[in-house]
Amino acid sequence: NAKLEYLLTETRGRVALVTLHRPKALNALCNGLFVELNQVLKEYDNNSEIGAIVLTGSERAFAAGADIKEMKDRNFIENYTQDFLGHWVDIIKIRKPIIAAVNGFALGGGCELAMMCDIIYAGDKAVFGQPEIKLGTIPGAGGTQRLVKAVGKSKAMEMCLTGSVNLTAEEAERAGLVSKVLPADQVVDEAVKTAEKIANLSQPIVQMCKDAINQSFEIPLSAGLNFERRLFHSTFATHDQKEGMGAFAEKRKAKFTNN
Ligand code: CAA
Repeated sequence: NAKLEYLLTETRGRVALVTLHRPKALNALCNGLFVELNQVLKEYDNNSEIGAIVLTGSERAFAAGADIKEMKDRNFIENYTQDFLGHWVDIIKIRKPIIAAVNGFALGGGCELAMMCDIIYAGDKAVFGQPEIKLGTIPGAGGTQRLVKAVGKSKAMEMCLTGSVNLTAEEAERAGLVSKVLPADQVVDEAVKTAEKIANLSQPIVQMCKDAINQSFEIPLSAGLNFERRLFHSTFATHDQKEGMGAFAEKRKAKFTNN
């Protein structure tokens, strides 16, 4: 896509690979970058040739946070009336699964961006942290919320309150923030492999599954279980459920048609 200034995009089979590409600033997430990211993700979400998305950065940095130089002179009234960073949450409206393939720094907004994705794979040199407090501010895009759910209160407090206790890839895996640690040069390929696996399943069912898991962050357990069961019921209205279970019974591979 020639019009993009801060991103590289390519497709590999049914997987879209989006690379944050602002090398001069360790992929600091300036407004222009995020506008492009939202636009590109929305396009892939609406493209039936694509079943899943991988989001990555460079070997040195997934992203070193929101752009400090761009935001340092902002004032409260501007932030409030323009809902500064409000558009970052658009990412969680993407219905297709997004896998973050993280190498190098995932700091501040970079860590928060990774946590907005559905699965995180980390290269062995990845570093996750929330250094905002050292800048005289606090995490502004999920660091005080999603991180708690990912690593528990004590670690989240320690990371956010000190700004200098970071997690290595292995610590992040142990804590449950990332699902796999891989050699740096294999992270993207492995993420694409997993994305391809997902992209070849029934797309409406994949979306229901993502939707149900995301509800677990929003609503009480009994309501979440009810939501899950109703979606489970509704999968039986699809051809792909008949195909999936029929294929099992007939000992053959299911051929999903997204119907
Ligand atoms: N914003 C703007 N520019 C950044 C940046 C950021 N978040 N992170 C790095 N850069 C720039 C640097 O200013 C530098 O630019 P110049 O070459 O023009 O000086 C370039 O990227 C390379 O960075 P360094 O020279 O600092 O590289 P390093 O290897 O010495 O250090 C680092 C790497 C430890 C990640 C360091 O760059 C750093 O501490 N970055 C800031 C991390 C941070 O505080 N992130 C949180 C931002 S606030 C936020 O994200 C709010 C939120 O919750 C949404």
